[in-house]
Amino acid sequence: MTDHSQLEADLMARIAAAADVAALEAVRVAALGKQGEISALLKTLGGMSPDERKVAGPAINGLRDRIAAALAERRQALEGLEMEARLATESLDLSLPGPPRRRGVVHPTMQVMEEMISIFAEMGFSLAEGPDIEDDFHNFTALNFPPKHPAREMHDTFWFPPGPDGEKKLLRTHTSPVQVRVMQRTNAPPPAAWISTSQEPPIRVIVPGRTYRQDSDATHTPMFHQMEGLVIDRNIHMGHLKWTLDQFITRFFEIDTIVTRFRPHHFPFTEPSAEMDVQCEVSAGEVKIGQGTDWSEIVGCGMVHPNVLRNCGLDPDEWQGFAFGFGVDRLGRLKYGMPDLRDMFSADTRWLAHYGFSAFATPNPASGLS
Ligand code: DAH
Repeated sequence: MTDHSQLEADLMARIAAAADVAALEAVRVAALGKQGEISALLKTLGGMSPDERKVAGPAINGLRDRIAAALAERRQALEGLEMEARLATESLDLSLPGPPRRRGVVHPTMQVMEEMISIFAEMGFSLAEGPDIEDDFHNFTALNFPPKHPAREMHDTFWFPPGPDGEKKLLRTHTSPVQVRVMQRTNAPPPAAWISTSQEPPIRVIVPGRTYRQDSDATHTPMFHQMEGLVIDRNIHMGHLKWTLDQFITRFFEIDTIVTRFRPHHFPFTEPSAEMDVQCEVSAGEVKIGQGTDWSEIVGCGMVHPNVLRNCGLDPDEWQGFAFGFGVDRLGRLKYGMPDLRDMFSADTRWLAHYGFSAFATPNPASGLS
């Protein structure tokens, strides 16, 4: 039988000499680690005869347990010493300020949406929502885009590969398909609980949401936000549209003397169609609203085309309406002066810290918008 007393004495001496926890850990690995000396001894048990093992087994296991116990005891002592050393050298200054807490901010686009919603809510509009993944019918066909019409291409649509039934879905290029979802008489349940179901006229809704086009430069991003508006009632005319938008713009920009103009335009789903511009001054890349001799386009609009009403099951001789579609990010850019639209969605927290809004500054018409 081998005598392990020399090994034990040696290890005990090394344990006692270990000056810190790291040195002690090195002794532990050397003794009990995978390649450790005691581990090697334990492995020899397998090659012994039962009689030999009866004697060597308890001896080696006993050695292992004594070394493990000594290691644990020394570790506790060393940790105590280390703590004492820290307490002796470090001090806690309770008068120091706490670590800064970073507070999140509201993204300008969400702030602008809230501002818009609060103004339209006061005018009696309610909210409607539709899916980001749309079908050709809601995004184009029902909105009076003729098949193969170039306007479909002008929208730079993101298409999905065709499904098993051959139908190609798309990322909606505008919020206008929700007009159809709101007006259309259908018994089919909406594809998700939050998607608005159809309403009987009179209708007065706004539709905030994300929209997508294959476009990217300083004033375009592939994902952007729109806010659609739809009013359907009897005897609705362009005067109502103009008043509503003028009223909105005055309140949104908080400038009583703001000047707007309507320019004739074309949209397949409205007739007549227009774009509304606001007076502004562009100098050195900066836009100032409500002064100067330049114009900035802010909203597309028009009287809902009779074909759209018919496609949704409404009789155009009985019901008329107007619709409009704002670019929310653009509107925010004009109001708060962000130079490049792409920065809005680059998730740069420095940009957000600069342009973001306090979560407590919820816009409402009574306490002010911005
Ligand atoms: N959907 C149009 C676009 O994305 C914007 C628009 C124009 C919406 C006129 C309307 C409208 O509701 O009447 O370019």
